[in-house]
Amino acid sequence: MKRNSIATLLILYLAFNLMAQETPSKEYQARYQEVMKQTQWWREARFGMFIHFGAYAVPGRGEWVKSNERLTTEQYQKYVDAFNPADFDAKKWAKVAKAAGMKYAVLTAKHHDGFCLFDSKLTDYKLSKQFGGRDLVREFLDAFRAEGLKVGLYYSIIDWHHPDYPNVGNHPQRDDKEYAKRNFNWDSYLKYMHGQVEELTKNYGKLDIMWFDYSFGEYSGEKWKANELVKMIRTNQPGIILDNRLKVNEGVSLKQREIGTLGDFETPEQGIPEAPLMDKYNNPIPWETCMTMNGVWGYSESDHNWKSPELLIHCLVNCVSKNGNILLNVGPDPRGNFPAECVNILAEVGKWIDKNGESIYGCGANSLKRQDWGRYTQKGNLIYAHWLYPYLGDLNAKGIDAKEVKNVFMLNSGAELVTYKTWFGNNETDNLFIKVSKSPQKSDLLDTVIKIEMNK
Ligand code: GLC
Repeated sequence: MKRNSIATLLILYLAFNLMAQETPSKEYQARYQEVMKQTQWWREARFGMFIHFGAYAVPGRGEWVKSNERLTTEQYQKYVDAFNPADFDAKKWAKVAKAAGMKYAVLTAKHHDGFCLFDSKLTDYKLSKQFGGRDLVREFLDAFRAEGLKVGLYYSIIDWHHPDYPNVGNHPQRDDKEYAKRNFNWDSYLKYMHGQVEELTKNYGKLDIMWFDYSFGEYSGEKWKANELVKMIRTNQPGIILDNRLKVNEGVSLKQREIGTLGDFETPEQGIPEAPLMDKYNNPIPWETCMTMNGVWGYSESDHNWKSPELLIHCLVNCVSKNGNILLNVGPDPRGNFPAECVNILAEVGKWIDKNGESIYGCGANSLKRQDWGRYTQKGNLIYAHWLYPYLGDLNAKGIDAKEVKNVFMLNSGAELVTYKTWFGNNETDNLFIKVSKSPQKSDLLDTVIKIEMNK
């Protein structure tokens, strides 16, 4: 091929690439900045508690029991009647969350079964009616705020109880032909749903988060009159942040997403993305993995498959190392107690955070490659090396320029650690070997954190 035709091809190739790389509109840039500003406290907080509590705790087979077992509202009523959380004490819950190192909490004000934990004026299908007028949402908000935690409410836009909500999706009566013949008045359902969100955002003081669940198929976005809903919420609660489930994201790859107009953060469920989530212009976007401690959200009498404190800390570090949060779930029992296993596990997590929290809060991803021994998190000129996995020899914090290192400490004790550059003839330029221990054992079996203070 001639020289100038190669040059032409090259120019065409470059021009094509330039065109393919979209630049964000001014409007998008402004929205992006606004979302990053509003979510700043939340991105620094990193660790929150999810609480799934409702009448479904009574059967103890998870919050989907009405759908899974295709129960009618009449059949489900025995669980509603038996739901008497006599031990409920929001202050106790808040203390557990606080001691675990969690910085915010989100409670189910209403789940898909439609039974409300708050004293809604728009329905009688609520706990307050049978529980001496007590409003659990209010008690939760008061108690968690008093512990200095930020507060949020989960609200199901799906409703398996409301007579105007059609038997679509995973509705318990999805196969019930008689039920399907009913005259569902969608506008009347929307009025009810918007009305309840208005109650929650007007009558309960400052809410930090609203967590909607969920959209599917055509039941997405404007079907819920989501723009109007969001406008109302933002008017009632300036500064509130919203999850992204008012709209379906199916089919849009994680790499193609923009920060939406209807939500401020992404919500991966029961899994951790392999890399930081970025928008299509390659800006990091806020995200939060929600995760159960056993296998279900609501209380389960039989699922004792608890994640260990070690696994939970590894998940937390994994998320933070990719700019993400964890919303870790507890499903209280029908009497209103956190399962004892949860309390014990969270206490262990809290003990670790107590010593190592500065490697989590306010931290995020850095540009270094993941190492065999663990992961890095970073905050400004502080790099935290999380030694998570069994490893032989001194840790090689590869990628860190030893000349730029000011200090290296063991985070849990504050003691200095000796570093050196060459080991076994390995004298590549970016080696930083850290002498961790004379024995092959980590000093903290859950995650031993080494704090590396850089010059800048
Ligand atoms: C799912 C489930 C729900 C749970 C939620 C938590 O969407 O429907 O039961 O509350 O995830 O993220």
